[in-house]
Amino acid sequence: MKRLRVAVQKSGRLNEDSLRLLKDAGISIDNGKEQLKAASGNFPLEVLYLRNGDIPQYLRDGVVDVAIIGENVLVEKGKDIIIAEKLAFSKCRVSLAVPKSARYNGIEDFQGKKIATSYPNTVTEFLTKNGISADLHIINGSVEIAPNIGLADAICDIVSSGSTLFKNNLKEVEVMLQSEAVLAVSPLISSERKEILSKLQFRIQSVLRARK
Ligand code: PRP
Ligand code: MG
Repeated sequence: MKRLRVAVQKSGRLNEDSLRLLKDAGISIDNGKEQLKAASGNFPLEVLYLRNGDIPQYLRDGVVDVAIIGENVLVEKGKDIIIAEKLAFSKCRVSLAVPKSARYNGIEDFQGKKIATSYPNTVTEFLTKNGISADLHIINGSVEIAPNIGLADAICDIVSSGSTLFKNNLKEVEVMLQSEAVLAVSPLISSERKEILSKLQFRIQSVLRARK
């Protein structure tokens, strides 16, 4: 039997809510999370637990058929990938922040500055659109620490509750993008699996309606 291959974040903010969505859609997954692949016993689907940043490429290559992923990751790495459904959880924004003590006059303040970020494409596009060029310092996590250790003048990262910014004495000064979890689809999905996908979408849509 063919199964729809669904990528879910292995660990992190989206993991739990993604699995809850499937569960609420009546799809049970046998969860040994140590296994990176788990099949459903009551729906033709298997879940692959993957690293967020790898998912756009897996979709592009058709290694997975669909993914539950943050829109922010697609904006950064998968602009070519189609969004089938917005899922209304894991809402966040991608923002620029500077030290609380810094005076901020506007985007032009970023000219020539050093910005630490895990979102180089998103920030470059935003700054270029505003005629600004800055010096990017690309790191994969704990971005907010950079200004405090003299690594950068500013940061660009995800803001959700704002508590990470607050704890690191930073203030949000520009919101570049609003994001939420989405259902993304591989351009290479087969027609057979597309049929399973429409059944999945039908179930997801009724879950989302019921949650409103
Ligand atoms: C994410 C993100 C921010 C923080 C935002 O980091 O990179 O740092 O969450 O959330 P908040 O506004 O609610 O504080 P995460 O904790 O996932 O760790 P990482 O950056 O090391 O990957
Ligand atoms: Mg972080």
